[in-house]
Amino acid sequence: MDQTEALKPKYSTEKVPVIDFGPYLAGEPGALDRTAREAGEASEYLGFFFIKNHPVPQDLIDRMFAETARFHALPLERKLEVKVTPAENVGYLPQGGQTQLSYSKLYGESKHPDRSISYFVRKEYPADHPERLAGRPWVSNNRWPRDLPGFRETCLEYFTALAAVARQVLTLHSVALGLGRDTLTQHDAFCKDAYTLRLLDYPPRDPALEGQWGIGPHSDYGYGALLAQAKVPGLEVLTRANEWIQAPAMEGHLLFNCGDFAHRWSNGRYRAAPHRVVNYSGVHRNSVVYFVNPRGDVSMDCFASCKSADAPPKFETTSFGEYITMLRKTNHTLKD
Ligand SMILES: [Fe+2]
Repeated sequence: MDQTEALKPKYSTEKVPVIDFGPYLAGEPGALDRTAREAGEASEYLGFFFIKNHPVPQDLIDRMFAETARFHALPLERKLEVKVTPAENVGYLPQGGQTQLSYSKLYGESKHPDRSISYFVRKEYPADHPERLAGRPWVSNNRWPRDLPGFRETCLEYFTALAAVARQVLTLHSVALGLGRDTLTQHDAFCKDAYTLRLLDYPPRDPALEGQWGIGPHSDYGYGALLAQAKVPGLEVLTRANEWIQAPAMEGHLLFNCGDFAHRWSNGRYRAAPHRVVNYSGVHRNSVVYFVNPRGDVSMDCFASCKSADAPPKFETTSFGEYITMLRKTNHTLKD
């Protein structure tokens, strides 16, 4: 075994914590503070937690997975009609369109472009919406495939349902960080639902392409992500002990993970855990991810409760938009 191989993380028996949102959502006395404490601890330690008893109907999740498979099964030329544009990351991103290099030196060099295929949806703003007419920077132009009845409606229904869960997690973080219950949900950074829905297809791993990931090791760029549970496993999370957890597919649960902005704006308190995807299954793996991204144009050094004279901000003041622009230059392209 060479030295690089010896440094590679091993697999762990550590578990992703499960947090029951039921009592909190039912408004039971004391449940908000208790659930916030659990969410805060999980966000600090591993940076990932399962949400049990979330409010999204399983029927809607099942329909979203069915529509994801339906979209990715379209002929390539149909999908290319709605390909992402250089100006906006909405629509279809073909295989090889994105390759994560953020942690590849540490946790496994990407030898080929990532194998994932994606379709991105943002909040829908009708043609006559005042914020579209005003040219607000958070208004995107969704690129819907033609002749796929029901696809758009299911995406938008799912988008709205997950925005509610995002607000619940932000509320819990807000309480856990001592900011006051509504501070994050009412903050400019989050008040315009600048979230992104990503519908993924991971074709089976190709043994001939050794060193290729579904998605290479990375942390998420935004505030966090809500992941519906795929039927086929493949997600792996790095622990603080530098070992990989193979995240189980927990039926009926959502999985939340903190991203770079939860880490930066909590002044390093919340952990943006490196994670990766590889599909060993031999069949296509679909995944439905909802990115809880801040608005692109809001800058902040960190939350007021996370800094003091003794603990000054560790990260430079930046907006999500500036951060993404910087990362896209370094993180997404293999040099060859
Ligand atoms: Fe990710």
